[in-house]
Amino acid sequence: MENTTDNKKTVLSGIQPTGTITLGNYLGAVQNWQRMQEDFNSVFFIADLHALTVRREPAEFRQTSLDFFAQYLACGLDPEKCILYFQSHVRQHAELQWILNCNTYVGETSRMTQFKDKSAKHADNINMGLMDYPVLMAADILLYQTDLVPVGIDQKQHLELTRDIAIRFNNRYGETFTVPEAYIPKEGAKICSLQDPTAKMSKSDPDQNASVSIVDDEATIVRKFKRAVTDSGNEICVREDKPGITNLINIYSAIEHKAVSEVETEFVGQGYGSFKIAVGEAVAAAFKPVREAYHTLIKDKGQLSAIAKNGAERAASLAEKTLRKVKKRVGLVAF
Ligand code: TYM
Repeated sequence: MENTTDNKKTVLSGIQPTGTITLGNYLGAVQNWQRMQEDFNSVFFIADLHALTVRREPAEFRQTSLDFFAQYLACGLDPEKCILYFQSHVRQHAELQWILNCNTYVGETSRMTQFKDKSAKHADNINMGLMDYPVLMAADILLYQTDLVPVGIDQKQHLELTRDIAIRFNNRYGETFTVPEAYIPKEGAKICSLQDPTAKMSKSDPDQNASVSIVDDEATIVRKFKRAVTDSGNEICVREDKPGITNLINIYSAIEHKAVSEVETEFVGQGYGSFKIAVGEAVAAAFKPVREAYHTLIKDKGQLSAIAKNGAERAASLAEKTLRKVKKRVGLVAF
């Protein structure tokens, strides 16, 4: 990664540490990161500053952030192959955000779908951070001259804003930032709630049966799938009027790395009940080693902190290069 003369592309992504990493986060993002770390310069972080946009109980938040870090490792993100750190440990993120703030219009951030949704959900706490959230995300991405950002479909609009900010800055001050592209997986881009397949599976859903955590035990996972809401009829196929079955097919397809058509063929003539169990068992089998590794890793705080410190140092040295260039471009005095 430090070798900037190689011609590998750079990928970067992050997750907000709230609740636990869900099946949606895993299929939309982490599963692809794990694959991409083999071929790209890879930077993955815990987006803890982003998580502060909603009120958190400090002790619980600190523990959740550590849990997420251990879960990154448990999912196979390897500190030998990628840079892993906490966003708050690399001050350049917040510093670049300020400069980008001065090159972003209020109208651009206030029209973001997620800002509108979150403002409605947290009407008593529509803080500046909530609206400025995508500018911090742009700073995260642009600091590392990122080429590709592996995310689920819900982040597409933020990526478009990041591109707009980068292009505007480059036009105004000269070539400074790589203009990044979103990398959105075909099957796992939008995993839906098991209880309401028209809504996104979300870490903050209070209904425990709606989402699956990567550290849920096998019996819990299978039970949640058995209870998954399905549609009328009995055909196992992807169709607009079958959001429940379509969601389960997408999950099975993404977790088993099979094409949707292959999954449809595999389950021809089978009932919803046995299909739901098959999906649950496939997810449970995939998460078993993750859960086991997580429980071992979380006990070793020394190891977690060593990996995070090393990751933050490596990240900061890359980030500083871009930040120095940006400060010069905008005319800040440097001695
Ligand atoms: P967050 O924490 O909401 O989600 C983390 C990642 O998981 C994806 N995702 C999903 N994918 C498929 N189906 C779902 N139901 C689902 N739910 C979530 C998200 O698209 C995301 O990829 N703002 C970001 C975190 C962030 C970031 C960044 C990402 C901060 N800085 C820079 C990329 C680059 C967020 O809140 O994701």
